[in-house]
Amino acid sequence: MAASAAQKVQEIREVTRIERIGAHSHIRGLGLDDALDARNVSQGMVGQVTARRAAGIILEMIKDGKIAGRACLIAGQPGTGKTAIAMGMAQALGQDTPFTAMAGSEIFSLEMSKTEALTQAFRKSIGVRIKEETEIIEGEVVEIQIDRPAAGTGAKVGKLTLKTTEMETIYDLGQKMIESLTKEKVQAGDIITIDKATGKITRLGRSFTRARDYDAMGPQTKFVQCPEGELQKRKEVVHTVSLHEIDVINSRTQGFLALFSGDTGEIKSEVREQINAKVAEWREEGKAEIVPGVLFIDEVHMLDIECFSYLNRALETDMAPVLIMATNRGITRIRGTNYQSPHGIPIDLLDRLLIIATTPYEEKEVKQILKIRCEEEDVEMSDDALTVLTRIGMETSLRYSIQIITSANLVCRKRKGAEVNVDDIKRVYALFLDESRSTQFLKEYQQEFMFNELGGDKEEMDVS
Ligand SMILES: Nc1ncnc2c1ncn2[C@@H]1O[C@H](COP(=O)(O)OP(=O)(O)OP(=O)(O)O)[C@@H](O)[C@H]1O
Ligand SMILES: [Mg+2]
Repeated sequence: MAASAAQKVQEIREVTRIERIGAHSHIRGLGLDDALDARNVSQGMVGQVTARRAAGIILEMIKDGKIAGRACLIAGQPGTGKTAIAMGMAQALGQDTPFTAMAGSEIFSLEMSKTEALTQAFRKSIGVRIKEETEIIEGEVVEIQIDRPAAGTGAKVGKLTLKTTEMETIYDLGQKMIESLTKEKVQAGDIITIDKATGKITRLGRSFTRARDYDAMGPQTKFVQCPEGELQKRKEVVHTVSLHEIDVINSRTQGFLALFSGDTGEIKSEVREQINAKVAEWREEGKAEIVPGVLFIDEVHMLDIECFSYLNRALETDMAPVLIMATNRGITRIRGTNYQSPHGIPIDLLDRLLIIATTPYEEKEVKQILKIRCEEEDVEMSDDALTVLTRIGMETSLRYSIQIITSANLVCRKRKGAEVNVDDIKRVYALFLDESRSTQFLKEYQQEFMFNELGGDKEEMDVS
């Protein structure tokens, strides 16, 4: 059961993957060398070397996989690359280590309690690598013969001849198999595998014996050797799924379709206990191993005292993932209390954390980041324009100047220009206010706006 469920999970993941250019899509990793020192510009990362190096050390710890429940906090001013570093860590970990990212505010959804939301996030960050043997048929296609039904309608039937270097067998084909063969565009001379349990057909490539038809196939064609021995084989397959995915599949009220919508609701604690026991059993039998991953909570000051206390407790279980948090707050009130604390995090939790600090960027770093963003968005920009944009970045914020790239490019395209020039930047700068000019504007015209509270009750303004 485990394998087929795991396979479904993987298919769902494939369906939901969509690529777009986002705020951090230029980040491909942490950009460290083998000695874990940060290269100044690498994998989309610029500067912030101390923090990146520190993140690299945490990463080693995660890859080791032995230590459970360590936590670290990335703290620094807005726009200093905290989220970017976390994304870099996720990239560096690769596909097989679970990485869950969430914002502190996400737990305040109405569908489930805060602790349930956190429990799900924790369990999403713990992978279970399940090993299973399946039976497959692997061989070179000699012939596919499909008989059209005489009446013109009704199910098709057919025959498939497969061979290895030693044997040749003819298999009867049903409607479903014919469909998958057509979908995979299988022809004589292909090497294929058929999963006996699911009927899934995979094309491995063309047989070497067909290499002389090369001209007719184009350069991407992959050639493989005709398999030896028996047509039927046993093969070990490995799937990695998260504990949360196993929970959802086994919770009777939802079933695996809930993974499509993400609308999983609360999961009963009995289900979780059963799953934990089952996984422990699989581990003992050598069928599965635990892959501790990473839970990243951004804007962690948005959590409240109950959540912080839950984190303290959850970090102490032996299946806990590595917890990474980020915040840009200084000393502020802990939500749900009247006490103040550094970063709005209770001292007892802070005491368990390794803290990584990020610092503001220098001009040349800002310039480099902007340049990388231009490449990522496929924007051609003149050197002068980049210099002006860098100045804007230094005086307003890195984020504001990154935003300008896209809009200046639109202005440039409108006038059919080849590259963004200083005028395009100026135009956009005049059109869109940055935070400080906007504040200035509001101060000047405060009388004309509704709900103007400036100089009013200070407490009301504190929306943390
Ligand atoms: N060192 C860096 N190298 C490359 N890009 C960076 C770097 N630092 C920040 N960026 C980019 O600059 C933008 C702002 O950075 P980011 O969102 O990481 O800031 P932050 O520290 O998380 O800010 P906040 O506290 O407001 O959440 C993002 O698009 C990010 O990808
Ligand atoms: Mg951030």
